[in-house]
Amino acid sequence: MREQAVAPGGGDVSVTPAVSVNGLSSGYGSVAVLHKVEFTVGHEIFAVLGANGAGKTTLLATLAGLLPVFSGSVAYHGTDVTKLAASESARLGVGYVPQEASVFPDLTVLENLTVGGMIGTRPHEERLEEVFETFPDLRSKLHLRAGNLSGGESRMVACSRALMQDPTVLLLDEPTAGLSPLYLELFFEKVAEIHRTRGVSIVLTEQNATQALGIADRVMVLSLGVGSEPMSADAVTIDLLREGYQI
Ligand SMILES: Nc1ncnc2c1ncn2[C@@H]1O[C@H](COP(=O)(O)OP(=O)(O)O)[C@@H](O)[C@H]1O
Ligand SMILES: [Mg+2]
Repeated sequence: MREQAVAPGGGDVSVTPAVSVNGLSSGYGSVAVLHKVEFTVGHEIFAVLGANGAGKTTLLATLAGLLPVFSGSVAYHGTDVTKLAASESARLGVGYVPQEASVFPDLTVLENLTVGGMIGTRPHEERLEEVFETFPDLRSKLHLRAGNLSGGESRMVACSRALMQDPTVLLLDEPTAGLSPLYLELFFEKVAEIHRTRGVSIVLTEQNATQALGIADRVMVLSLGVGSEPMSADAVTIDLLREGYQI
């Protein structure tokens, strides 16, 4: 069922999903990778699972406004962003943490965070303190060059930079890819905590299905660019995952 958008002149915003993806197709050049993907995200953690090459990164980059939409639409809180630039989505409260290292290596940790804090008007210090509440380890690393951090630390900085934007929707592309088991556990906990304490809606892609299911409310399995019907994380069975992971 399609939730209604906010009616002109005001309406019940409680029924407007944080994210609405309708018949979304996108890809590279003229090659479609995503085929009519369809889901909505409310105040929840929504996990997109799928094997390597399934189209998870393509989906999140499209949602972030970095890839052109071939057909279909994307809306945040009822505002259609299909034709808007990525910077416009960011202003609407969409934080995006790409899969690949996304810190500025030559800037310090503090400078990296400052870049994120350029959006919005809430005092910078206040936002920084909240970031330290989530990632206390960063406080002692503020003046280090981001390029000298470990993989896990640099992932924390990338995530914190998105949080500095005061997002209402956070797009996390395989946040645990390549992390050591210790950081992997920590990161899943942090994602759940960010959702709980900040009330941010989260779209997360993952190959670590078991852990993702542990924190997600609902799940969609992406297979060769085709999305399954979203389902409750509790309802996902091993058979279903096996089916979805065949590419
Ligand atoms: N820059 C690109 N140009 C062309 N094809 C790409 C590009 N990036 C990814 N693809 C293709 O898109 C498909 C989905 O890739 P991707 O979204 O990275 O999957 P996942 O993140 O699930 O591993 C793959 O077939 C991949 O080869
Ligand atoms: Mg990927």
